[in-house]
Amino acid sequence: MRIAMIGTGYVGLVSGACFSEFGTEVVCVDRDAGKIDRLRAGEVPIYEPGLDNLIASNVQAGRLSFTTSLSEGVKGADAVFIAVGTPTRRGDGHADLTYVYQAAREISAAAGSGTVIVTKSTVPVGTGRKVGEIAREVAPQKALHVASNPEFLREGSAINDFMRPDRVVIGTDSDHAREVMHALYRPLYLIETPVIFTELETAELTKYAANAFLATKITFINEIADLCESVGANVHDVARGIGLDGRIGRKFLHAGPGYGGSCFPKDTLALVRTAEEAAAPLRIVETVVAVNDARKARMAEKVIAHCGGSLDGRTVAVLGLTFKPNTDDMREAPSLSLVPALQRAGATVRAFDPEGMDEARKSLSDVVYCTNAYEAMEGADALVILTEWNEFRNLDLDRAKQLLRAPVVADLRNIYDPAEMAAAGFHYDSIGRPSSGEAAGADVIPSHLAKAAT
Ligand code: UDX
Repeated sequence: MRIAMIGTGYVGLVSGACFSEFGTEVVCVDRDAGKIDRLRAGEVPIYEPGLDNLIASNVQAGRLSFTTSLSEGVKGADAVFIAVGTPTRRGDGHADLTYVYQAAREISAAAGSGTVIVTKSTVPVGTGRKVGEIAREVAPQKALHVASNPEFLREGSAINDFMRPDRVVIGTDSDHAREVMHALYRPLYLIETPVIFTELETAELTKYAANAFLATKITFINEIADLCESVGANVHDVARGIGLDGRIGRKFLHAGPGYGGSCFPKDTLALVRTAEEAAAPLRIVETVVAVNDARKARMAEKVIAHCGGSLDGRTVAVLGLTFKPNTDDMREAPSLSLVPALQRAGATVRAFDPEGMDEARKSLSDVVYCTNAYEAMEGADALVILTEWNEFRNLDLDRAKQLLRAPVVADLRNIYDPAEMAAAGFHYDSIGRPSSGEAAGADVIPSHLAKAAT
């Protein structure tokens, strides 16, 4: 088998590398010549654990190559995957399909007869049919086929998610498309992965429904966390108590500062628009979008309140800037609203992120970027933990206390235990858990902050 992958973003690059690992010959295509040059030189443009080695070994085995020429990549391919970006369209929240349709046109012109054009990007319901129409219009003589094969991988664990998925969903418009897709995923049949074949529309909607459901689950537990704070309950125990019910499940019940990333915010919004247009509005998802946006905006207020009500002239150390650990991705990260809000409140922000600082510099200005967590804490009046990188889970608390001007910690990922932090002398706040440090904390708030609180 031979395939072409159009677009070397997150999904395209990981999928291309993983298909080549399955033994398929893969050509990755991108119009960004600089990116292709770097990939050819063995440089991987994104941070994803294990991806560099996977790419290197498959390039060496001659199964994986890179080109800027779509027609060259598509030549002789059994299937051509479209994995280009589908950003939110400015103004109306719809997914912008310009790149997808342009790729469909170019592929149709260059592909051989019988090629299957596969949408891998997350695309709204109806896009696959439209790709089919484009193919018939551009190359009526070629009998091109269409499939929709949404990708469920997560950043940070992308390779394992691709190689050992919970399921694969494939929509097709013909028996031939189904046979080709079946052959490409043959290695997964060997590990008994469920592969669900559907209509094009069903596959497309399944992807959006999955992301909207997960975003809803997170938002639900975030709101329960707020309620926990008001009534003195502990969201961690509530999540465990409900999650052990097999119908609910324990995953994605971790309360935090609101979901971010390249998928949930974009896809929930696009699904809401699709539903509105189909006159079948999704009220729950609409609310999830609004609640999550408001939450991210509100996190700064929580931090400011914990610091005594004012940050004027103060310094805040922020650990973690990316939307989640094990990625350098800053898209829709809670830090993008939190850091400017702290600055507007008069704070100087010192920040550290293990992988995200180059990206962060592009969108967060006037930040003192530090080379490690402890440097960020030097002279700070408060510490905010914003992304749960492993290296922040086991900080040297004595050292932290010495470096901070005041032992004030706002842990927005609940990676420390409130009782232990109180015992260690920190004025500690987290999400949806009683701050058992409250009483102890009263003595350790520096006088300037305590005064502002009253
Ligand atoms: C997500 C989906 O999981 C994946 O299936 C889809 O293909 C792409 O979108 P990803 O964006 O990589 O993957 O991140 P994910 O690990 O799902 O986290 C998304 C956001 O939710 C992050 O901001 C994360 O911090 C937040 N989250 C996740 C929580 O706040 N609580 C949780 O319990 C889980």
